[in-house]
Amino acid sequence: MIKQAIIPLAGLGTRLLPLTSVFAKELLPINGKPGIEYILDECIDAGIREIIFIISKKKEMIKKYFYNDKFYKEIIKKKKDPQILREYKKILRYKKMIKFVYQNKPLGTGDAVLKTKKFIKDNFFLMLLPDDLIVKENCSKAMIKIHKSHKSSVMASMTVNKKNVSRWGIFKLKKKLNKNNYVIDDVIEKPSIQKAPSNKAVIGRYILPKSIFQILLKQKPGKGGEIHITDAVRYLIKHKKKFIAHNFSGKYLDCGTMRGYIKSSNEISKL
Ligand code: UTP
Repeated sequence: MIKQAIIPLAGLGTRLLPLTSVFAKELLPINGKPGIEYILDECIDAGIREIIFIISKKKEMIKKYFYNDKFYKEIIKKKKDPQILREYKKILRYKKMIKFVYQNKPLGTGDAVLKTKKFIKDNFFLMLLPDDLIVKENCSKAMIKIHKSHKSSVMASMTVNKKNVSRWGIFKLKKKLNKNNYVIDDVIEKPSIQKAPSNKAVIGRYILPKSIFQILLKQKPGKGGEIHITDAVRYLIKHKKKFIAHNFSGKYLDCGTMRGYIKSSNEISKL
């Protein structure tokens, strides 16, 4: 069973400037609820018991959001408002599940993952990138089911328009298992239209093997001087580790760009 999830949150969020010059983008409201709570709810509903947040000193406000007990206790004593009590209980429930680790220099997603090495107990764990909201279907839950029946790693995938492939990591597929699941042959980061092996893109949900830490420990920086998780995944695939791409059926919302962030509230309000 997959019981642990990790969430990298130590990035700079430059695409959401100026908001992110003082604010953690994951706390920005999406239809009245901080983006990160959608991700936490997805994890809880998928049966995850422990969630590791990778934050940085600059993003300590995320920790504060879950550790503001004194503030809540004083307000509740004064106001006796059942709604505030409900909100506080919800925060307490999240807090119980979350551990914090630090990545103070944003050296890449792979480096962020490496910070969780000593906390991962089982052979596989879930990773969610919080900019990628998936609504209407619990993508993590569906991926855990696939992992259970194939005993392999799984990555979320989405069919994108052929002319946009160079914005994404694109899968090269080896074999179709059924309508929504494929065995992966390779992942190519931001290929040109001519070089793209398919139009199936990597989306921010991964079930990864613990063995990835050994690869990350030795990995040299890749594109842009960062340690990318996709480079470690590539290495594992090349060394015969089975990875399945799950084409999810929910709705994808990209909250990492200003345009996508604005659109996401609108889309969620219509659900
Ligand atoms: P991105 O590179 O897509 O987003 O990282 P970013 O760095 O937050 O924002 P931009 O690109 O400057 O606008 C994907 C996810 O990985 C985390 C980010 O917080 C984000 O959730 N991340 C990225 C880390 O935790 N550490 C890193 O070194 C890089």
